[in-house]
Amino acid sequence: MKLYTTISALQEALREEQAQGFKIGFVPTMGALHEGHLSLVEQAGKMTDIVVVSIFVNPNQFNDSNDLANYPRTLEADMSLLGTQKCDYVFFPSVEEIYPMPDTRKFSFGALERVMEGAFRPGHFNGVAQVVSRLFEIVNPDKAFFGRKDFQQLAIIKELVRLLNLTIEIVPCDIVRESDGLAMSSRNKLLLPEYRECVPMIFQTLKEAKVLALTRSVSEVKAFVGERINSTALLKLEYFDIVDDTSLSAVQNWSDPGTKVGCIALYAGKVRLIDNVIF
Ligand code: PAJ
Repeated sequence: MKLYTTISALQEALREEQAQGFKIGFVPTMGALHEGHLSLVEQAGKMTDIVVVSIFVNPNQFNDSNDLANYPRTLEADMSLLGTQKCDYVFFPSVEEIYPMPDTRKFSFGALERVMEGAFRPGHFNGVAQVVSRLFEIVNPDKAFFGRKDFQQLAIIKELVRLLNLTIEIVPCDIVRESDGLAMSSRNKLLLPEYRECVPMIFQTLKEAKVLALTRSVSEVKAFVGERINSTALLKLEYFDIVDDTSLSAVQNWSDPGTKVGCIALYAGKVRLIDNVIF
């Protein structure tokens, strides 16, 4: 496993791999790695010859400066976790390396960016698109791996690939959870013990919502989730939306065509968590 901090050194190494006909798999991350990230790395190892993982806390996608300042940075631990996987290259650039000049590009994702995370975190997906398009340019992968945990991000990335006419295959990977059901997230490290104890009820509630969906309307299921979360003293719901998995438009009736996903965002104290289930 080799660690590179500059674009030129990484590209030189990757060009040699590509010249030998090896297919490149890419896993972009912001570090503070956990088993969720590692499942993407493992999938990349199965589907491609050379695995590249980037670790870059992208300032452009943080709409809250406290969130950026508090984001966990754990390079040493990340490197030892990656050492347990088939990971060939780690790219760990500085902010100046990725953005030598301010990135002023504006992407337009239409309805995909107006709902859920897009509505509550203004500018977030533009920042994600800036960094991911930049990283795609640098790494030039054949396949890139993204988690379903960030369901809307996955939809945005697929649209980005379409808008830029890239030939990169986007491979979605399932959500990895703790044994108590909590979706793994780098932000879980920031939860104080009392909050950590209470957050497994998020997935519990989503599972109950799935059962309820067999007999109740969409609006009744939404109300159930909202009430359940907000009646928990330590949690504050931001949204729970049931959307079509491709257009992300709100589902009115269970009989609407397409796959339906329930996406939730909430605060556990100061920590913002997201999760989702497929209905
Ligand atoms: P980060 O939050 O570090 O996540 C990196 C990748 O890991 C994303 O594709 C995310 O969906 C996936 N992931 C995180 N937790 C997961 C879990 N519990 N199960 C499965 N996959 C999980 O997402 C980002 O970074 C950034 O926005 C990035 C794409 C790197 C751009 O900066």
